[in-house]
Amino acid sequence: MSFDLGRGRTLDDALGAIGITIGPGSELPPLPDAAMSSPRAGQFDPRAWFKDPTRRFEIEIGCGKGTFILETSQHEPATNFLGIEWAREYYLYTADRLRRVQAANVRMLHTDAGDFLRWRVQDAVAHVIHLYFSDPWPKAKHHKNRVIQHRFLAEAWRVLIPGGELRIVTDHDELWAWDREHFDVWTNPDRWTQVPQQVRDLWPMPSKPFDELAFTPPAWVGEGQTVATNYERKMCVDRPPHACVLKKRD
Ligand SMILES: C[S@@+](CC[C@H](N)C(=O)[O-])C[C@H]1O[C@@H](n2cnc3c(N)ncnc32)[C@H](O)[C@@H]1O
Repeated sequence: MSFDLGRGRTLDDALGAIGITIGPGSELPPLPDAAMSSPRAGQFDPRAWFKDPTRRFEIEIGCGKGTFILETSQHEPATNFLGIEWAREYYLYTADRLRRVQAANVRMLHTDAGDFLRWRVQDAVAHVIHLYFSDPWPKAKHHKNRVIQHRFLAEAWRVLIPGGELRIVTDHDELWAWDREHFDVWTNPDRWTQVPQQVRDLWPMPSKPFDELAFTPPAWVGEGQTVATNYERKMCVDRPPHACVLKKRD
């Protein structure tokens, strides 16, 4: 299916410069067979994809048309940003926008962010994970597709540096209730045993893995907006969205 986001113009993801190359011998080679018995065998440090891997590193999951990652990367030129988008048209559209402004501190990856964190990213690399206006998957039989799951929170905790932040914004009340229920368990030691045992047993985690903080909009965001993504600009005209920050405890 094509949304023709380029309006007839061919979109160029500038592979190797903006777009991450995927496949044998590329920046993201196939998962090694060893990962079947040793799940960490395919993990590496994605900061190596940037010209200066020593910089602060942030990930955006689900960039859509890319306004947030474009704006934030221009306002924070000393930070490296990795955008992950699984819909090919949106991935291409965002990568093309970044190519046209010659962004030097952003890379785009076309894949499922949950799988990428789980199988490919080593521990303690990211300062921030941004998750803005995630798909709500309203039908109960599709709730398993929501990004926020206990397993995802375990991977986010693992991938964040101590003190690192998972930043979440949504305008969907029912998704927010789902998120809140998960966040309460991950920020309240009295509820820690409600995290499924197989998730608690993945690796050592404290019984209060995160602190919850109020969400502060980035300084560059205009009056009355939270993160100024495409979705927020279009859909949140009359009421502010829900937002919070989960901070990995030191
Ligand atoms: C409702 S849109 C919001 C886009 C953007 N964050 C905004 O606020 O304008 C959700 C985006 O997340 C992407 N997405 C959803 N689940 C994803 C996943 N597991 N990995 C990568 N991208 C995902 C979708 O393709 C879509 O572009």
